[in-house]
Amino acid sequence: MIAPAATVVLEAQNLIKDYGASRVVHGVSLQLFRGETLGLVGESGSGKSTVARMLLRLIEPTSGSLTFYPSESSASLNLLQLPSRDMRRLRRKLAIVFQDPYAALNPRMTVRQILSEPFAIHRENPQQGVDARLAELLAEVGLDSSALIRYPHEFSGGQRQRINIARAIALRPEVLVLDEPVSALDVSVGAQVINLIRDLQRRYGLTCLFISHSMPLVRYLCDRVAVMQHGRIVETGSWQQVCENPVEAYTQQLLAATPEMAVSLK
Ligand SMILES: Nc1ncnc2c1ncn2[C@@H]1O[C@H](COP(=O)(O)OP(=O)(O)O)[C@@H](O)[C@H]1O
Ligand SMILES: [Mg+2]
Repeated sequence: MIAPAATVVLEAQNLIKDYGASRVVHGVSLQLFRGETLGLVGESGSGKSTVARMLLRLIEPTSGSLTFYPSESSASLNLLQLPSRDMRRLRRKLAIVFQDPYAALNPRMTVRQILSEPFAIHRENPQQGVDARLAELLAEVGLDSSALIRYPHEFSGGQRQRINIARAIALRPEVLVLDEPVSALDVSVGAQVINLIRDLQRRYGLTCLFISHSMPLVRYLCDRVAVMQHGRIVETGSWQQVCENPVEAYTQQLLAATPEMAVSLK
């Protein structure tokens, strides 16, 4: 039997981002295939977050193209030409979890309010009722439904990142971007969140872009790796390809970074 060709969900071509006279992303092209997790690695300041935000059009690229291939339609969408109303509607398909679990949650909102927001914004009524769906979501990320009436400050960093993940997956996105989701957490807490992400990948066959400066984490979670340096992707391939053919000393340097979390992973 011939394996079906991998289908592309999101494709970026030659994305460039300038801030004034300085170019921080120099023509990044990448493809994200359905069901895969692509790791985007690189040292701090190499442009990973800028690329992630451009992929979801949270910031506008200076130039380049961005194409989304929704699962329910054979027509592709040119994201950079999409009217803002259509882009807002499409946001439910493209979710992101940021590095800082504290900044991402409104301190004045209860967890029920935080997790209901995506349903309200996109006018979606879960079949089983909102509260039942929110309890289910919390269970999916390893939290008890008693969390619903509590506020963000009542939770630890790891628990807050679980709430961020619950909000990101609430409407079953087609693409989930995780931008250094455990960099702000202690190693052991971070390892638990990494294991949660892996469980979700397996359960839902999520398509993920996982951003990290830690090669061991990328090795653990990702099917393919893209290495960024100074605003460019300098290498793309399987973990093995990237390790066998490291660009200069750069990939080796990343490989040596933060190996300690690897031992806490199950
Ligand atoms: N809003 C901005 N204005 C000017 N420069 C920025 C802005 N955002 C990011 N940069 C610069 O772009 C480069 C890449 O940043 P970033 O994408 O955050 O890197 P990474 O996520 O890999 O650490 C850095 O040099 C950063 O200072
Ligand atoms: Mg970043």
